[in-house]
Amino acid sequence: MLALHAPHGPSHLPRKDPPMKLPRQFYKPLAVGAPEPLRELPVRLERMIHFVPPHLEKLRAKVPQLAREVDVVLGNLEDAIPADAKDTARKGFIEMAQATDFGATGLWTRINALNSPWMLDDVTEIVAAIGNKLDVVMVPKVDGEWDIHYLDQLLAQLEARHAVKKPILLHAILETAEGVKNVEAIAAASPRMQGISLGPADLAASRAMKTTRVGGGHPDYKVLADPDASGGSRAAYQQDLWHYTLGKMVDACATAGIKPFYGPFGDFADGDACEAQFRNAFLMGCAGAWSLHPSQVTIAKRVFSPDPGEVAFARRILDAMPDGTGAVMIDGKMQDDATWKQAKVVVDLAQLVAAKDPAMAAIYGF
Ligand code: GLV
Ligand code: MG
Repeated sequence: MLALHAPHGPSHLPRKDPPMKLPRQFYKPLAVGAPEPLRELPVRLERMIHFVPPHLEKLRAKVPQLAREVDVVLGNLEDAIPADAKDTARKGFIEMAQATDFGATGLWTRINALNSPWMLDDVTEIVAAIGNKLDVVMVPKVDGEWDIHYLDQLLAQLEARHAVKKPILLHAILETAEGVKNVEAIAAASPRMQGISLGPADLAASRAMKTTRVGGGHPDYKVLADPDASGGSRAAYQQDLWHYTLGKMVDACATAGIKPFYGPFGDFADGDACEAQFRNAFLMGCAGAWSLHPSQVTIAKRVFSPDPGEVAFARRILDAMPDGTGAVMIDGKMQDDATWKQAKVVVDLAQLVAAKDPAMAAIYGF
C-alpha cells in the first residue's frame, strides 16, 4: 500500500537553533511603561546567595543583621517550604523586605515552579509590594527558554502596573535534564537573565542519578589505578560528578555575559567537602554558591574572594604590562596579553571584595 505520510515527520528532525529576536527588538521593554531592559549586568559582589525560610519569624528577625554579613539575601518560597506554609512564607518575605535596609546587599527571592499553584501569587504579590526593592527572581526547574520568555513578559506587565523603576532580573536553576540540554538558549533568553545556578538535587533526580546527596562528590564515582604485577590493592581516585554540567553551564553563561553559580551543598557538618566543591566551582568560573547554613557563609567568603597571593601576583602582571600587550617574564613565568586578561579577572574581583570588606582591602593592599 502507498504510504500517505513519510515515516519520519518533522518531529524527527534535529532541533534547529531557536529563532532569536533581532538585536534592536531584544532591548525593547515588553510592556508599555515597563523600565528599559539593562544592556550590562550591574557590577555586584555575589559570593554567596544566602537562603532564608521566610515563614519562620525567628529567622526573619535575623535578616537585618544577616544583610550586613552576606552578599545576597534570598527569601525561599519553593522546595523546603511546606505546602501549608507557602502563603505565610510569601507574606513573611514581603514583610522582611519592607522592614530591612539591604544597602548594597542583594535582595532575591526563589519563587515556586511555573506549574505550581503558588507561582502566580508569588510573582504578582511580590512585585506589587516590593517591586522597587527586589533585585532578582530565582526560577526553579527551568526546562527551556520558553520558561524565561513567560516570566519576562509577566514581569514587564507587572513592572508597568506598579511603576517599577529598574528591571527585575531573572536567575534560572539548572536542575532538569532538559534544562541542561537547553542551557545555552536559557542563558541568552532575555536581557533580564542575571545568572544560572546548578541545582544538583533536582538534577540528580531528573537524570535518575543514583545518589541521595545534595551536591558534592560520591565515593563510588571513581576510577581505579591499573593493576600491578604484585596484585596489591589498587588506588581509587574519586571524580567530580558535576564537572560536565558545571563546565557546560559556565560556558553558556560566559557566552551570554551572565554569571554562573554552584547551588546547594547539603551536608552542613562536612565543611571540608563543601569547601572543595565550592573551590572547584570558583576555579572553573563561578561567581558564588548558595549558603543554606551560617557556616557555609564563612566558607563561601573564603573561597570566592581571590587568594591574596594570587592577587599580588596578578597585580605584578598588570603593572609589568601597562597597556596589556607584549610579553614579559615574572618569576620565570611567561606573561602576555592572555595572562594579562587572566590577571585582570582576579584583580577586578579583589577590588569588588575590597570595596565591601575593609579587612580584605587591607590584606590585598588596596
Ligand atoms: C536545588 O534546588 C537543587 O535541587 O539542588
Ligand atoms: Mg531544586
